[in-house]
Amino acid sequence: MTDIAIKPLSNACGAEITGVDLTKPISPDVAAEINRAWLDHCVIVVRGQELADIDQVNFAEAFGPVGDYLRPDTLRNDAMKERHRSVMFVSNIVENGEPIGSLPDGEMMFHTDTGYDQNPHKATTLYAIEIPSEGGNTIFSNQYKVFDALPEELKNKIEGRNAHHAYEFGVMIKDKEKYDGPELRTAVHPVFRPHTETGRPTVYMNELMTESIEGLSEEESRTALDEIFALQKEKRFCYEHVWQKGDLVMWDNRCTLHARTDFPRNERRLLRRVTIEDAAPAWAA
Ligand code: OGA
Ligand code: MN
Repeated sequence: MTDIAIKPLSNACGAEITGVDLTKPISPDVAAEINRAWLDHCVIVVRGQELADIDQVNFAEAFGPVGDYLRPDTLRNDAMKERHRSVMFVSNIVENGEPIGSLPDGEMMFHTDTGYDQNPHKATTLYAIEIPSEGGNTIFSNQYKVFDALPEELKNKIEGRNAHHAYEFGVMIKDKEKYDGPELRTAVHPVFRPHTETGRPTVYMNELMTESIEGLSEEESRTALDEIFALQKEKRFCYEHVWQKGDLVMWDNRCTLHARTDFPRNERRLLRRVTIEDAAPAWAA
């Protein structure tokens, strides 16, 4: 028996976990219970935590090897180079003329983290240090449910195909048809990926990073993607997280997408991010 309680946060996904103090090592029983809740609800929230870098890294390591910072070193400011290699700040704060983190201001389109890599990180943990008075909410969309809701015709048209993913670091709203910048990263993934642990099919495409579906004409691909992106935004598939300082959220990049709502530019927002690697999926071998 553990002291953990799990409370669903919406019909789409998300659950709050209470009864854990993440500054203390978690036992294998507790880790297994949290992992179960996370697989069931795709996103877990633990509130009221006071976590140092190492506490967050230790928590993440209970679920797998923590992911290296994948961005070019030139995007990492000097102060961050002193920190744990897996820690990244998500922040709009500028110190000594240099941004202290990545993904600074405003709205962000739906995406999954590191989907531009051939073996994307399975999880992202994000811990809230400073939160603006309004906005900057993170919206999670459940891609098991989107898969189940796909119109048959659309599903049949793209089943078994691959999609091309691309990303240029720093883009939060994609306003061009194709990325073409110098820091371009690309990957190819099946349009429907079976989740590496649950085996359930998910829609693995998103507005920020997915550029085309292989084997379709440009127009067919665009139409299919637009239909999927519209479905992913429907409220019935989404949980919107309103951050409080001290929240630790862990989401599953294999079965959810996330987006961010706008927030005032003159207010500070600072979150600490640590990701967790996935086992190499069978289809990538
Ligand atoms: C991220 C991300 C969203 C946010 O850290 O990968 O997309 O709400 N963050 O800042
Ligand atoms: Mn992200």
